[in-house]
Amino acid sequence: MQYNGTVLVAGATGRTGQWIVRRLQHYGIDCRLFVRSGEKALETFGPELVDRLSIGSVQNEAEVDAAVKRADAVICAIGGNVMDPESPPPSAIDRDGVKRLAARAKASGVSHFILVSSLAVTRPDHPLNKYGSVLLMKLEGEDEVRRLFGEEGHRYTILRPGGLIDEDPPLTHTMLFDTGDRLETGKINRCDVAEAAVEALWIPEARNLTFELIQQENEPQESFEKYFQMVNGDKKE
Ligand SMILES: NC(=O)c1ccc[n+]([C@@H]2O[C@H](COP(=O)([O-])OP(=O)(O)OC[C@H]3O[C@@H](n4cnc5c(N)ncnc54)[C@H](OP(=O)(O)O)[C@@H]3O)[C@@H](O)[C@H]2O)c1
Repeated sequence: MQYNGTVLVAGATGRTGQWIVRRLQHYGIDCRLFVRSGEKALETFGPELVDRLSIGSVQNEAEVDAAVKRADAVICAIGGNVMDPESPPPSAIDRDGVKRLAARAKASGVSHFILVSSLAVTRPDHPLNKYGSVLLMKLEGEDEVRRLFGEEGHRYTILRPGGLIDEDPPLTHTMLFDTGDRLETGKINRCDVAEAAVEALWIPEARNLTFELIQQENEPQESFEKYFQMVNGDKKE
């Protein structure tokens, strides 16, 4: 085992969140799941995780407080549904929800926050911003995570994946990690976003790093450690 703490996965029943739970289990890491629906969680993971569930919304402070209790690290893979006008807007989930989760996690003693954000969050003219300024909202969420967890004794890692796909198992592609939001486009399997988020728990070069990630060639990988090392050596803010 590479990490000894307890990790809370926010958005654990989401498509990336499910993979994060599976990769934590793969590495034998203790996890708790923050989910909106206990029923969906049980359907997804089976009854063995029932005592690890914390049910609630990032919109509710008391539910967030209950979820972050006793966690050492948080991996957040939540995201609003921008295509559904009935769903809360990105300002409520990707900005305020992330800010609330980060603030309450820090107040509760969480020392490490890992956030799944998105490529292009620094580009106001990106077409996705037509949907509730989703990328701008994500950037504000990121900013708060950097502010809170960039302080002494804490640590953050922010992942900005390209377009998410579900085509292959984890660790079957080489990666391109970059900083400074310079990649125009690219795609990546959700399972590899999850793998990188989980490895960020223990890889030293992932400390206080914000980076973009997309996949490249089909080629088996043992881990993504070398990409963290390369990107850290060539960091652009
Ligand atoms: N789609 C792309 O190509 C793309 C590209 C780059 C980055 N991203 C970002 O990557 C992240 C993961 O994407 P994904 O496709 O895996 O997302 P997803 O499948 O839509 O999952 C989103 C998760 O957020 C949860 N959630 C939504 N509102 C919530 C609330 N109020 N309280 C607590 N949880 C809430 C959902 O809960 P339920 O399970 O109950 O629905 C779900 O688990 C998102 O932030 C997304 O914006 C996506």
